[in-house]
Amino acid sequence: MTELKNLLVEKRDDILMITVNREKALNALNDETITELQQVFNNHKDDKSIRCVILTGAGKAFVAGADIGELAAADVTKGKAVSEKGLKLMDTIQNYPRPVIAAVNGFALGGGCEMAMACDIRLASEKARLGQPEVNLGLIPGYGGTQRLSRLVGRGKAMQLILSGEMITAAEAHRIGLVDEIYPPEQLMEKALELAKLINSKSPVAVKMAKECINRGLDMTLENGCKLEMNKFGDICGTEDKKEGTAAFLEKRKANFPGK
Ligand code: CAA
Repeated sequence: MTELKNLLVEKRDDILMITVNREKALNALNDETITELQQVFNNHKDDKSIRCVILTGAGKAFVAGADIGELAAADVTKGKAVSEKGLKLMDTIQNYPRPVIAAVNGFALGGGCEMAMACDIRLASEKARLGQPEVNLGLIPGYGGTQRLSRLVGRGKAMQLILSGEMITAAEAHRIGLVDEIYPPEQLMEKALELAKLINSKSPVAVKMAKECINRGLDMTLENGCKLEMNKFGDICGTEDKKEGTAAFLEKRKANFPGK
């Protein structure tokens, strides 16, 4: 296990587990933690031995937001820089070439909710609480919340959550589509690993391409998104994974994907 100052990073077979570990501040994302997260994702971008990432928090929080102490001291220039740096990390997570699962173990507020939303799939503990409470601080979300929340739950719910600053339960987050599954706290990590292993049993090339099509397509018109899918479908038909996957089906055996 690599121990950074604010993160625990552990490789379990082909799964990279990243735990934000700043419990004294409920894992709030200070500048140093953002830098470390960016480093870890950058360092593992081309690491083919990793097939999936699970992102979680130590203790009772996933991440309780950006670090309010640091934000208190930010002027206009600094505020923009803080947002830019956080947004870059969220972009890196979203565009990481393998799936990233958020295991939302507790408070996911402000920057924490934004980080969970940058992940591909959100599994939450029944104890989790989510929200964008920035208006309570005279702030607005700065790590993509105004954009990703409305894309996930629709304009009305995003307005309600961001303008009221209210926290919601995991059950409500599940109901509105902000989290994809909820589990008893003691089962969360087991379920996240189970999902990661299931995804890792599929074609790596197909998983990577499907993630890219969904993410890029959401920023396009339906017509252009479908064109993207058509081109990627053509590309994937030239891969060894497709050759193996279709052959295995026809030969009634389990596929052994080469990942190429
Ligand atoms: N930044 C810095 N420190 C934080 C923090 C944050 N976002 N959230 C919690 N902490 C600290 C508290 O100050 C406290 O420190 P001390 O022990 O030194 O006093 C410690 O973590 C424990 O917190 P609480 O005592 O408040 O714990 P609680 O269980 O009573 O309450 C909570 C939990 C409801 C999550 C509460 O801590 C809280 O409201 N936190 C702030 C949440 C928030 O507003 N997040 C948004 C930040 S702004 C943002 O994220 C902007 C953006 O989009 C980029």
